[in-house]
Amino acid sequence: MNLKALEQQRAIYVGGFAGARPLVPVRFDLLERAARDTMSAEAYAYIAGGAGLETTMEHNRRGFERVRILPRMLRDVSERDTSIKLLGQKLTAPVLTAPIGVLEMVHPEADLAVARAAAALGVPMIFSNQASFPMEECAAEMGNSPRWFQLYWSKSDELTASLLRRAEASGCSAVVLTLDTTMLGWRPRDLDLAYLPFLRGLGIAQYTADPVFQKMASEPDFLRSIQDEGAFSQTKLLNFFKLVKKYPGGSFRKKMKSKAPVAGVRKFIEIYSRPSITWGDLAFLKKHTRLPILLKGILHPEDARLAVEHGMDGIIASNHGGRQVAGSISAIEALPAIVEAVGGKLPVLVDSGIREGADIFRALALGAKAVCVGRPYVYGLALAGQAGVEAVLKNLLADFELTMGLAGCRHIGEIDRSSVHVEKG
Ligand code: FNR
Repeated sequence: MNLKALEQQRAIYVGGFAGARPLVPVRFDLLERAARDTMSAEAYAYIAGGAGLETTMEHNRRGFERVRILPRMLRDVSERDTSIKLLGQKLTAPVLTAPIGVLEMVHPEADLAVARAAAALGVPMIFSNQASFPMEECAAEMGNSPRWFQLYWSKSDELTASLLRRAEASGCSAVVLTLDTTMLGWRPRDLDLAYLPFLRGLGIAQYTADPVFQKMASEPDFLRSIQDEGAFSQTKLLNFFKLVKKYPGGSFRKKMKSKAPVAGVRKFIEIYSRPSITWGDLAFLKKHTRLPILLKGILHPEDARLAVEHGMDGIIASNHGGRQVAGSISAIEALPAIVEAVGGKLPVLVDSGIREGADIFRALALGAKAVCVGRPYVYGLALAGQAGVEAVLKNLLADFELTMGLAGCRHIGEIDRSSVHVEKG
């Protein structure tokens, strides 16, 4: 039996009776606006922005809005069960946190706060390859709560293998290979501010904590190749000192002397992405991990079929929250064809644009096994750290549970294609 939604709803209303308002706004537009007020212009641009004219972000929302729920009546929905089984694990709800990098831009506890919140609710967290804290530190916050690791395939196979080893040792139960970011998309908001967090040493904690990476960044030949880049402006000097201060590895003096911060960032820029990867490379991953592998960023049904053919264990239909290809199909619109293409052989998850409980219902009705939620929890983090992430996730889960019950479904198995009507484009 699951009555969490009513408890959450009641807690908010009863709090209001005593004069309290919810910790973070429940409405997504107000949540985003409140979070924006706490962030630097650079952080907000990085989190909220998308590729090109941001049409893909619009498509993501419109795609969900076109799926209209068809509620059924008189079906005794007094008990509701939102649990699912995914890759052999029982989850209390069909929701995971999407991997989001550079969370230190919005809160100093970053991934650690998300890990604590996710564990408190039993929501699986997908650790980002671009996290602000190493996966080992996040895992240490989570007890036995489920966690996955998201991988970007770097130019170094040795590093990729090392990251996979660390994910296994950190108790991750799946690997998510993100395919849509072999290069950074064209993101006008970030370009106009001329700001890329990685250049400041942010979001590279998985690398700087990695023994293979540390070795690569400290090889004498590589260190010799690092030359000072022309004249130091005041801003450049300031950013340089900030980078050294933030970089791990002992005292400021020691780090200045070792060139480690500059070497680390340079090495990261040199190797972080490998646009040349192809389907044939997936065998390397399978060889180097015993964990199930999911492909994130699939939108074309033919790619979904190839995922099955190459022995993958799952798919996350995603357009990276509209950050990579402007004018792309929304993930929710791509979902039915992907589900059909895999023919039940793999679980298909979806993200990009999940903003309310109804979106989770819509995704499940179109054949998704679960969803990943992205920006909403980042805004909760910006506003109130761990408690903010928890509040956002609790609201979303409560909203979903109520939507499910009010649509006449007692458990996830009752949500199917007949639960929705899809408006034509
Ligand atoms: C992302 N996303 C992402 N994906 C990934 O595989 N690795 C990563 O490190 C990141 N980093 C990242 C940073 C920021 C600021 C955002 C907004 C997104 C994409 C993420 O996992 C997910 O696909 C989207 O966030 C889903 O879209 P919505 O729900 O945020 O609109």
